[in-house]
Parts: sequence; structure tokens; C-alpha cells
Amino acid sequence: MAAMVLFDTHILAILSELLAAIFAEVLNGKPQFTDHLIHKLKHHPGQIEAAAIMQHILDGSGLVKAARKYHEIDALKKPKQDRYAMRTSPQWLGPQIEVIRAATKMIEREINSVNDNPLVDVSRDIALHGGNFQGTPIGVSMDNTRIAVASIGKLMFAQFTELVNDLYNKGLTPNLSGGWNPSLDYGFKGAEIAMASYCSELQYLANPVTTHVESTENHNQSVNSLGLISARKTAEAVDILNSCLLLIWLPFAKPLT
Ligand SMILES: *[C@@H]1O[C@H](CO)[C@@H](O)[C@H](O)[C@H]1NC(C)=O
Ligand SMILES: *[C@@H]1O[C@H](CO)[C@@H](O)[C@H](O)[C@H]1NC(C)=O
Repeated sequence: MAAMVLFDTHILAILSELLAAIFAEVLNGKPQFTDHLIHKLKHHPGQIEAAAIMQHILDGSGLVKAARKYHEIDALKKPKQDRYAMRTSPQWLGPQIEVIRAATKMIEREINSVNDNPLVDVSRDIALHGGNFQGTPIGVSMDNTRIAVASIGKLMFAQFTELVNDLYNKGLTPNLSGGWNPSLDYGFKGAEIAMASYCSELQYLANPVTTHVESTENHNQSVNSLGLISARKTAEAVDILNSCLLLIWLPFAKPLT
């Protein structure tokens, strides 16, 4: 179950990097926040990778080119730096990517390992009584992954609130509505409200499972991994993040012609 959850988590993590770049694009962001030098000097591989993906998308963007002209003309009228949700998105997403990778490595080792107890060593003619059934790698990696999933959701929501709010969305319509009459067009206000509750649930699910171990079987099993519970909770979180990212995707989707 942990392996399947992580498979989906990887896809959503990459999608969040793409969406962060598209967010910078539509908000007339200054693309230099993705510059390789910034990230090289910070050493973290996840951050370097996230920035490189964003830089690749922004490099070929017509919107970014148009925004460059706009920045030159309007230099004094706009903030010198974009807000954290955009400018620090590689620093925010990078550590989450690294946590997801580390969890994947742990599950990869676990799934290919020997869990038998006792372990029979024929060459020495002995049975070794150990504890390889203890699924702590699963509980721990699923807890960590769930926090990363919640943090990705938090960033995506922070970006979306800027996108729909005409105080911050740099000339896009209020609530991303098609018209200017609030009585007739709700715009993407509903999407943002829905995303707020998805995000709350994600933050709730970020609480660890492995801190809730109970002693059982007359204290024989006084520590146990709770791996399956944690994996189930992470599957729930991934499902919710999936709904979140789908909502963000909506305003970018071109109508079919
Ligand atoms: C946007 O949403 C806010 C908050 O609900 C509302 O006050 C405002 O009238 C809306 N504006 C438009 C143009 O839809
Ligand atoms: C501990 O639990 C295992 C698995 O249920 C069982 O085989 C073993 O006999 C138990 N040992 C003790 C000391 O209770």
C-alpha cells in the first residue's frame, strides 16, 4: 500500500512544480527566482531540481517575455520582489521532494527485504529469533510523506488565494470571474472555498500516526509499527491533494473549440 501511495505522491509532487511555474507565469512573476545560481549556493538537491523544472517552463513562456516589458515600464508601481508563495516555491517544495524520495527509498528496501521470524540460517544450522516483522519503516515513511503532501497542498492553496484575489492577482479579474458583476458571476470563488476545506483536512491528516502506538498482548507487542494505518491516512491525504490540484488546474484549462 505504501508503494502505491508513493507512486501517486511522486506524480502530484511533479504536478505541483509545474503548477508553481504556471502560477509565476500568469501572475507576471519575475522568473529570476528560479535562477540556478540561487539554488546551487543552497546545496539542497530537491530545491535545485524544483527550480530547474520551473526555469525550464518559464524559459519558453511568451507571458514571461511580455511581463519583462511590463516590469521595465512599471518599475516603481509594483513590489520589487514577488510574494513568498511564488518566490520561495523551490525552497518550499524541494525539502518535500527529498522527504518523498527518502520515503520511497525506505519502502523500496522494505519491500525487497526478508521479514521472516525466526530466520533459518542453514549454513550455521540455527534459527535466529529477531524482529524483522516490525514495520517501523512503513509507519515512519508514511507519516513523513503525509506531512510533505500537506505542505505541498498548503503552498498550492497559498498561490491560489493570490490568484483569485484582485488585491494580488495583478490585473486579473476579481475571483477570476468572467465578468465584473458579482451577482451574475461567482468566478473561481467556489473553487477557492472548496480548496480551503480540502487544505484544512490535509493539515489535520498531517498529524502523525506513529505517536499513537498502544501496548498490546500483555506487553509482548508493546511497540508496533501502525504502518497500515499510516499508509491508509496517507492514501486519504493524496486523494485530497489530488482534488486540490485539479481545482487549480481549472482556470488554466482552455475551453474546447
Ligand atoms: C469577489 O468575491 C468577494 C468575496 O466574496 C466579493 O465581495 C466580490 O464582490 C466579488 N467580486 C466579483 C467581481 O465577483
Ligand atoms: C509474543 O508474540 C508472538 C507473536 O504473537 C508470539 O509468537 C510469542 O509467543 C509472544 N511471546 C511472548 C513472550 O508472549
